[in-house]
Amino acid sequence: MALMAHGGSSADAWAELAACGHEESHLVKPLRKAVLPVAGLGTRFLPATKAMPKEMLPVVDKPLIQYAVDEARAAGIEQFCMVTGRGKTALIDHFDIAFELEATLAERGKREALELLREEAMPPGSITTVRQQVPLGLGHAIWCARAFIGDDPFAILLPDDLVLSETPCLKQLADVYRDTGGNVVAVTEVPHEQTNKYGILRIGEAAGNRVEVKGLVEKPAPKDAPSNLSIIGRYVLLPEVIGFLSQMERGAGNEVQLTDAMAKMIGFAPFHGLKFEGRRFDCGDKIGFLEAQVAFALARPDLGPAVRAFLKNYTDL
Ligand code: G1P
Repeated sequence: MALMAHGGSSADAWAELAACGHEESHLVKPLRKAVLPVAGLGTRFLPATKAMPKEMLPVVDKPLIQYAVDEARAAGIEQFCMVTGRGKTALIDHFDIAFELEATLAERGKREALELLREEAMPPGSITTVRQQVPLGLGHAIWCARAFIGDDPFAILLPDDLVLSETPCLKQLADVYRDTGGNVVAVTEVPHEQTNKYGILRIGEAAGNRVEVKGLVEKPAPKDAPSNLSIIGRYVLLPEVIGFLSQMERGAGNEVQLTDAMAKMIGFAPFHGLKFEGRRFDCGDKIGFLEAQVAFALARPDLGPAVRAFLKNYTDL
């Protein structure tokens, strides 16, 4: 599949997608890149996020950003691009080698902690960053990573969305992508009255846990929603989406919406939603974040029994 050069217009992207056609979908380029949009201000978690990026908030003992990176690596991702903003340096430092810390741990014989750090060390050159100087929306954030994306398919992980599952959620998507090619998004059912918080699917044929995406609408009012199947923050997309994002059309909330650009690819390349196995927690929301703490702690063999025991103290409240 010859893929487009990105300075191009959306008409170029369209023509190239049309040229690809379904019949060539077996030519699936390997998925090695991921974009992590992390420029958001985290206002819902003030004052915690006054001097610290919201993606550094820990669930149990690991920051949200690390969950996203670990999940992506488990899906075969090798190259990362963080779309950052001001005050986000801690996110980059987090993936650096902490020489002083490692030396101190070694000196004190803290082998387990040292091994943990070393296991999680990123290969040199695997993380790059770009800045989104103005908050114009998720679509604009992804467009900022266009040079990194180049002509390759790529994953997007929104670190606020945390998934507890047997198989890492992005790996589930990558497996579908390998099979079908095209675009794949993780989807889940949401209460009908909440469709205005999400990107919502118009569904075509379903086969097992895969559904064909026939349409996409960003944050529709419940009365206008084509279903209650919502996109969560895991995507595998063709690079042609950049051509559509380049138009900078404003959508819901007057932002450049990724969902609107994705909608323009429907019909020109395979597009599937995957009802993934696992539970999704919205860690951009206080209740979702607190629930994630409990669920992830309960799932840990070293903490689960103690957490289960103390939770009993609160069940009568
Ligand atoms: C974004 C997307 C939306 C998606 C959601 C998942 O919305 O625009 O389509 O359903 O993430 O978390 P946001 O949460 O940034 O408003």
